[in-house]
Amino acid sequence: MVRYALIPEPFRSICDRWAKQLQQINDRNSRMHYIKQELPGLLEKKSIFYEILEKLCAGDPYPDIRYAGVFDNEFMLYLDKSRRFSIRMYIYNPSEYTWIHDHNSWGVIGTPFGSLEVIGYDRLDNGEKESQAKLIVAKRKILNPGEVEIALPLNDGIHQTGNPTSKTIIMICVYGTPLRRLYIQRYDDKAQTVCKVYPPRIHRKRVAKMALDSFSQSK
Ligand SMILES: [Fe+2]
Repeated sequence: MVRYALIPEPFRSICDRWAKQLQQINDRNSRMHYIKQELPGLLEKKSIFYEILEKLCAGDPYPDIRYAGVFDNEFMLYLDKSRRFSIRMYIYNPSEYTWIHDHNSWGVIGTPFGSLEVIGYDRLDNGEKESQAKLIVAKRKILNPGEVEIALPLNDGIHQTGNPTSKTIIMICVYGTPLRRLYIQRYDDKAQTVCKVYPPRIHRKRVAKMALDSFSQSK
């Protein structure tokens, strides 16, 4: 839940401007390229992120820390009311990386300070074997402040992001409208496996349904 009235200026004006602009752009690629052009300008405004981190430390109601995404280090900063885009912040401790994953939408990634590593993978198998996946590293990039990288949805954007430095950093991601898939895929390149990961609120409903089903069968 994003309480729009609490989003600090000038961040709110930037979000509103992006919302208006993306309303005029219909195709996915053009929206992604618009954000690719715009995100470096937002990342340059370090004071915005300093203020957001201060608010988190002070226990302010914005950003809402009760929001739970797939990743533990994820904070929802803005969710467009028409779901055309969202802006999320991720905090990485030194040497911390996400597991390898895909996304249900395009994304544009960058950092306002520090260095961020993005590792892109190609999937070599055709997905025929359940729970198995073979990946190879396709690219490895260190993003410095203001530099951005695009991630495409599903198999075209399998990646891992993280912090190669000895200081805590933040990553800012702008995601487009998600596809109608309720989970993302988690990969293990060494074990050559893949599994579905649901956001916590969907995961809880699913396990409750499974428990209810086994309860009914045992009655
Ligand atoms: Fe990602």
